[in-house]
Amino acid sequence: MADQQNSININWFPGHMAKTRKQIAEDLKLVDIVVEILDARIPISSQNPDIKQITQNKKKIIVLNKYDLADEKENQKWVEYFNKKDQKAILVDALSGKGINETIRLIQKEMEEDLKKIADKGRIGRKIRVMIVGIPNVGKSSFINRIAKKTSAEVGNKPGVTKQKQWIRINDKIELLDTPGVLWPKFESEEVGMHLAITGTIKDDILELTEIAYSLTKFLLENYRENLIQRYSLNEKQIEEILNQDQPENENIYEIMQLIGKKRGAVASGGRIDDDKTSKIILDDFRSGKLGKITIEKIS
Ligand code: G4P
Repeated sequence: MADQQNSININWFPGHMAKTRKQIAEDLKLVDIVVEILDARIPISSQNPDIKQITQNKKKIIVLNKYDLADEKENQKWVEYFNKKDQKAILVDALSGKGINETIRLIQKEMEEDLKKIADKGRIGRKIRVMIVGIPNVGKSSFINRIAKKTSAEVGNKPGVTKQKQWIRINDKIELLDTPGVLWPKFESEEVGMHLAITGTIKDDILELTEIAYSLTKFLLENYRENLIQRYSLNEKQIEEILNQDQPENENIYEIMQLIGKKRGAVASGGRIDDDKTSKIILDDFRSGKLGKITIEKIS
């Protein structure tokens, strides 16, 4: 495990981290409100630990993206969780565009008073400036593309001026900084690292593929057993029997993974079940939503 921890550090805590942070701080000076994008399946693990400090004095909206892949019951609970902490949160599916219009409305509502104050000072027509922040893979680009497509976006990518900040017109009141602030995930515990690996937020080569799939299978057996049974046409009684075997729990779970591998034809030469193939099947099915709408982090 120590080696894996090291590889995580090497990959995710690069030397330019401080520079990135400084750049984000600079960009933040240009905007009125920040939209922090989280993965609705892992709202805590996908949140950058320093975000509060970096965005202090800024208004902020939390977008729980990929809500289409997450458990409906849990989605609502997460929105309430953030609201209770006095943070505005909204469910978004950046692929289909669900929740995008609501986000626009929420931004305007949050900024209403400030804009009035600005207008009172005589600066009528001043637009709300927005910036997106989030860790990799939570859907920042998808969100920007979606929100920009809503109107005739002026995405300025003229050669030679790429260094200059570009603003995307969202409507007559809002403009969005075209480059999101990419923050680093936190690896405060092995659990957080595993959640990021299960959802594919960090690359599969950082943790052992079979270890990630094992962890997911264990979680599904405990929390979404029905989804697993349905997807792989498993026999509920047989699963219970395997889990009740008098041997270490990990061996029981491994046996269920092998059963899934067999069902899905993940067989290597000699008839042996291919662990890597099996692991990939389970992870791909989860990440693409084929195992159903699943939330990994629940509010306890
Ligand atoms: P990023 O800029 O924050 O790094 O994320 P990006 O938009 O590139 O999105 C990462 C992956 O997540 C993409 O999949 C994208 O299609 C998917 N995605 C983004 N928003 C949503 C959403 O609301 N719902 C669902 N279901 N998927 C979403 P990809 O291009 O296939 O990448 P990958 O799966 O190969 O990593």
